Amino acid sequence: MKKITILGSTGSIGTSAIDVIRAHRDEFQIVAMSAHGNHKLLMEQIEEFNPIYVSIGTEEGRRAIEERYPELTVYMGEEGLKKLGALDEADIVLTAVSGNVGIEATVEAVKKGKRIALANKETLVCAGELINKMVEEYGAEIIPVDSEHSALFQSLESGRREEVSKLIITASGGPFRGRTTKDLEKVKLEDALKHPNWAMGRKITIDSSTLVNKGLEVIEAHYLFGIDYEDIEVVVHPQSIVHSLVEFRDRSVIAQLGITDMKVPIQYAFTYPERGENNLTERLDLVKLSRLDFEAPDMEVFKGLKFAFEAGKIGMSMPLIYNTANEVAVDLFLQGKIQYLDIYRIIEEAMGKHTPVELKNIEQIKEIDRSLRDEIYRKY
Ligand SMILES: NC(=O)c1ccc[n+]([C@@H]2O[C@H](COP(=O)([O-])OP(=O)(O)OC[C@H]3O[C@@H](n4cnc5c(N)ncnc54)[C@H](OP(=O)(O)O)[C@@H]3O)[C@@H](O)[C@H]2O)c1
Repeated sequence: MKKITILGSTGSIGTSAIDVIRAHRDEFQIVAMSAHGNHKLLMEQIEEFNPIYVSIGTEEGRRAIEERYPELTVYMGEEGLKKLGALDEADIVLTAVSGNVGIEATVEAVKKGKRIALANKETLVCAGELINKMVEEYGAEIIPVDSEHSALFQSLESGRREEVSKLIITASGGPFRGRTTKDLEKVKLEDALKHPNWAMGRKITIDSSTLVNKGLEVIEAHYLFGIDYEDIEVVVHPQSIVHSLVEFRDRSVIAQLGITDMKVPIQYAFTYPERGENNLTERLDLVKLSRLDFEAPDMEVFKGLKFAFEAGKIGMSMPLIYNTANEVAVDLFLQGKIQYLDIYRIIEEAMGKHTPVELKNIEQIKEIDRSLRDEIYRKY
């Protein structure tokens, strides 16, 4: 029986993970789960899975949970996430919170040498070098959950690392594929929240439309697989069936395909190196699908991707700046305080003003993050 902690059990990835666990109750057990604002759903999950520990983001949620489940250990906020990350009882920690609040909890799990099923891409983007060093030091293991990185991870099994010549990450192109910058000036929140292929949380859905999500994935792939940015290519593939590909030096290209369902990579991160049964996901029907299309991304219109390559190549603290500026900008856009294209302006300005520094510890990362957040929020 594998014991699992889910950080962010009420989100899109968290609830898909719950579906996977529900379908394999003889193999997986939930020992801990966390939510932020949605304590009602968390309480339904507690009722069904009977965890030993939970963490919640609000005082109201904490009171409601403690009243109904007096036996349960209830933690709160970021400290609570860290406690859950460090639990001795868990074999696997699924990090499925959104934004960079997941970093410290991931660090705790790494220090305990656990398997981290990593959905939260912001963690490696902001603290990739530090986390990689710690993973080695503490003998932890990161198995990616993001569908593209899971595809790369699976395709990489076909050869040795030194035989890889290129990673090819696919992108759906989002709801605004083919649009011009002038078209993007008029984008409304409800248009940006309509992803053509994937049902996801609000923040990542906006990130997918700006291609910042793809940018974060490029930086994440660099840290996960140790491949130079020059050898990472992004290709737009509107059907989202080929989840990503690896080109080897003999020109063989190995890909992982499947229909768009996050339960597949989540389950793989739990069962790796084995593959479990999956009766929840539809089979891929190539004949019905009949065609797969590919095109180059337009990085002049969708600058989110261009900025990511720039930030990644500069390295040090620049990917952190790229991520923090984007997190704040997306939040402001979701609140209706800025226009769509201001997201790019905010990222570009933050990167332009920043002098990159080497990142030595998590405290320093938190400080840089906090000061940039304050600066942008003060301005808007
Ligand atoms: N969705 C996908 O298909 C997908 C694919 C690949 C990677 N990812 C990555 O996976 C992560 C989660 O994405 P998602 O789409 O599942 O997001 P989501 O639906 O917005 O869920 C986010 C989860 O994090 C919790 N949360 C939000 N703010 C928090 C905070 N300040 N402190 C603690 N917990 C907090 C939420 O709790 P409440 O709901 O209770 O407020 C919820 O459980 C992101 O990093 C995303 O980039 C997602």
